[in-house]
Amino acid sequence: MEKILVWDWPVRIGHWLLVAAFAIAWLTSEGETWRLVHAYAGGTLVGVMLFRLLWGFLGSRHARFASFVRGPAAAFAYLKGLVTGQAMHTTGHNPAGGWAILLLIVLGLATGGTGWLIYNDWGGHWLEELHEGLANTMLIVVGVHIAGVIVGSLVHHENLVRAMFTGRKRGEPGEAIASARPLAAVALLGWVALCAWWLAR
Ligand code: HEM
Repeated sequence: MEKILVWDWPVRIGHWLLVAAFAIAWLTSEGETWRLVHAYAGGTLVGVMLFRLLWGFLGSRHARFASFVRGPAAAFAYLKGLVTGQAMHTTGHNPAGGWAILLLIVLGLATGGTGWLIYNDWGGHWLEELHEGLANTMLIVVGVHIAGVIVGSLVHHENLVRAMFTGRKRGEPGEAIASARPLAAVALLGWVALCAWWLAR
């Protein structure tokens, strides 16, 4: 095995945009002062998540849902392997991480969607409660996700956070992606800017 290109540019840029958007949305969630910034952060998050849905079908090999979404049995087997020290190294996302990713996409869209409705004066107190509940649930899943990344990095002796910056992980040469898809990353940035503007206007 050697260091090969695994994550394309849209996956990497999208991920770090999500981290920034989620953190900013969280920090600006109380009161009216930062309402517009909160709406832009939420719009950015929704834009990235919508693009990620499409990229799960059109993206490069390891970005596709078909390459990392496995049944619950595979996810449990992987988690059990973590405990017994026999978890299999995967070139792309591991089967447990795959479920966390799906959950984060669904929660991100639901949180952003309810936020947009509230921003446009729809719904009532119950919708605000739902929005807050979804955001809190997302925070918990993000916490579990980060813990999973730390455990995975330790167990596999591989810095997964650095890999999300460089795009490179350990793998067989035949598993490498051929292109980092820079043009799609430009499209992602344009799309996210459009979503943030439209949703926060
Ligand atoms: C500082 C905080 C975070 C760190 C260090 C981090 C790190 C990572 C790493 C290393 C991966 C790749 C995991 C693998 O190798 O399989 C990943 C994937 C992912 N993370 Fe995070 N993450 C953070 C926060 C977040 C947040 C806040 C969100 C969502 C709001 C998020 C959503 C995702 C998603 C959707 C993926 C899948 C990437 C893709 O395939 O497009 N992460 N994260």
